[in-house]
Amino acid sequence: MTRPAPLGIKRLEGIHYYVRDLERSRRFYTEKLDFAETWRSSPELEARSGQRSACFSAGAIDVVCSAPIGPVGDGRCRAARFLAKHPDGVGTLMFEVEDAARAFALLEQRGGTPIDDLQTLRDDGGTLRQFSITTPFGDCTFRFREHRGYRALYPGAVPYRGGGGNRFGFEQIDHVTSNFQTMKPMLLWLEHVLGFEQMWEVAFHTADVDPARGSGSGLKSIVMWDPVSQTKFANNEPARPFFKSSQINIFNEELRGDGVQHVALTVGDILGAVRGLRSAGVSFMPTPGSYYDMLPARIAGSGIATIDEDVATLRELQILLDGDHHHAYMLQVFLKESAGLYGDPSAGPFFYEIIQRKGDRGFGAGNFRALFESIEREQRKSAMPAGAEDGA
Ligand SMILES: [Fe+2]
Repeated sequence: MTRPAPLGIKRLEGIHYYVRDLERSRRFYTEKLDFAETWRSSPELEARSGQRSACFSAGAIDVVCSAPIGPVGDGRCRAARFLAKHPDGVGTLMFEVEDAARAFALLEQRGGTPIDDLQTLRDDGGTLRQFSITTPFGDCTFRFREHRGYRALYPGAVPYRGGGGNRFGFEQIDHVTSNFQTMKPMLLWLEHVLGFEQMWEVAFHTADVDPARGSGSGLKSIVMWDPVSQTKFANNEPARPFFKSSQINIFNEELRGDGVQHVALTVGDILGAVRGLRSAGVSFMPTPGSYYDMLPARIAGSGIATIDEDVATLRELQILLDGDHHHAYMLQVFLKESAGLYGDPSAGPFFYEIIQRKGDRGFGAGNFRALFESIEREQRKSAMPAGAEDGA
């Protein structure tokens, strides 16, 4: 079979996030993550669109947050329509393309569904050509944009210089991970319509590690990528047994549909970044201490040979490590999901990952088992009388 021609994606330039409380997002991005506030919607755009937006930027990452000005559910704007159905979440992914007209023609030929015609916008700097398409995942759309000197982030956005300086060294989006009840339609669409290829897959079930348990959580995960731009989408679906208690199914129930679970942001120095983020009050998903008890043996058994970091420092900062060949590994950490960060279920189950790659191209598969085994170990310890674990 001949492969579909590449769409000419240059990069995934940002995400568009729909929120109920724009001020809360502003505080999170500028005060906690040290993103700069770079754009705001103009009063004319707000009057016309019914939503208020701000863009937060660090490195090559743009996060546009939009909140409805009127009540959620009045249907006047995209943010209100999204939020009438879902908690806060990712509503659009924005791709920079070389040639928007060519990408539009290729997508239409291959069964993509444009929402609007290709638009050409001009300002005193140049042109922006753009269009959006629907996707097989819930209410998340894709927008393709060709920049030719156009100054504004998008029409009606006015420059803003506010808060933040990216002192944690955020660089770019490494991958976007999405959850589905069944991921095959997304995989086929990514392959046949977008022209992506499969690059990685893993299946994991906690019941395989401890069959006696009689409960558990499982998933299948397949990563598709565009080899030209190296844009990567990880896709998850729940796995039986105990489909309903799969963390992927629970996420979909909380989001009330398929959609983006997490976005991974790269940093050049994850130790410094996590140390700084923790002191700024950012909460991360906890890692049990026994994960680090087992880490030296895991590293020795994996073929990584040596790592540059101290296990004691990784333990202190609760950073995870994975890899499978000589001196090639990755370090990753997950922020607490938005609902947990804000103590508000309507903030949604989305979370950020922070990742530093040191030659490894994977997605932390080894951490699934290691984390599960650590949790089991901790649970066994706490079920034993004090001191009993020494003789176990
Ligand atoms: Fe990830």
